[in-house]
This record gives sequence, structure tokens and C-alpha cells, in this order.
Amino acid sequence: MLEDLKANNRAWAARQISEDPEFFSRLSQLQEPRYLWIGCSDSRVPANQITGLAPGEVFVHRNVANLAPPQDANYLSVLQFAVDVLKVEHILVVGHYGCGGVRAAVDGRRRGLVDHWLHPIRETAREHRHELDALPDETARHDRLCELNVLRQVRNVAADVFVQDAWARGQSLSVHGWVYSLHTGLVTDLDTTVSTPAEMAALG
Ligand code: CO
Repeated sequence: MLEDLKANNRAWAARQISEDPEFFSRLSQLQEPRYLWIGCSDSRVPANQITGLAPGEVFVHRNVANLAPPQDANYLSVLQFAVDVLKVEHILVVGHYGCGGVRAAVDGRRRGLVDHWLHPIRETAREHRHELDALPDETARHDRLCELNVLRQVRNVAADVFVQDAWARGQSLSVHGWVYSLHTGLVTDLDTTVSTPAEMAALG
């Protein structure tokens, strides 16, 4: 099985070189992605394929349920490098409907460490419980919670000091919230884009 992966890899590398002989020598010198993708680890939500981006075009951070926790050193390191060094212009927080992490956060079952990781989603659900309770069924509640989680993470990213400092020095940087559908393969823009401190303040 792993031999298949290695064979795939050799075929892919050969194909890249046949299409563009300088492909690897160019990329090995420099990466200049314009986008940072913060998405779920779910194997069905691959950043490059969904957006049609080639290697070198998107800097990627993925974790369970696409969280951007203000105390998480892994996420913060990725964010700082993307903003300060790579100077990406767009940060995409991408959730997805049918997210097992979002579902696990609120199903009441104990799973151990991951319960702590998912804690911010339970907080989001509690903050919006009236809106969620008013929805007709479990699917609608789950879909909406996936969206609310993205909105919350967009706020986390936009509130971060690395982002605030980038805006203060006049760097062009926007934070976007998207949700991906496993059923259609399509991304929905939640129209929550934040590009200035004023827009951040308006989020509340
Ligand atoms: Co997920």
C-alpha cells in the first residue's frame, strides 16, 4: 500500500518536471504564497485541491475543527510566520458542514483530551443557544454551529496582535470565513471579511 504512495510520488514528480522543468528548482528557492488556509484536519477538505492552488501558493494550518485558539503556540507560530515573513494577503478560515469535531464538541460524550481542544466550540454553542434552539432539526443546528465556529475563529484571527500590528504598519491583509460542503464540493463565503481594525471592532 505504501509502495503505491511512493510510486504515485515518483509519477507526480516526473509529471511536474515534464510540464515545467524549473518547477522544483524554483520552489526550492522561495515560497511566496498569498494565502494562509486555516482548516479542519478532515481528509475530505484538502486546501490545494478545493481552491485549485499549486504547491507554493497556499500556506496551510489544519487542526481538528479548524480552530484558532489565542493560546495555541502551533497556530500562533503559523500565523506569525504567514503574516510577518510570508506577508500573505488573505487568511481563509475554512470550516465544513458535517464536521465531526464540531459534532463531538456538543454531543455530550466524553472522549478525553479532545474535549479540552473542542471547548471553544461548546462556548460558541452556549453563546448562541437561543438561535440554535430555534432551528428546526439537528442537521440545521449542526450546520449553523459549523458556521458560528468559523465566525468565531475569524474574530480570533483578526483580534490577534500579529494581525493588528500588520494593519498598523499598513500591510494589506484580510481575514475571511468560508464553509465547505462535503456534498457539493462548494465553498460558501460567510461574508464576514475583516480587512481593517474598524471592521474588526464592528464584529463586536
Ligand atoms: Co472537521
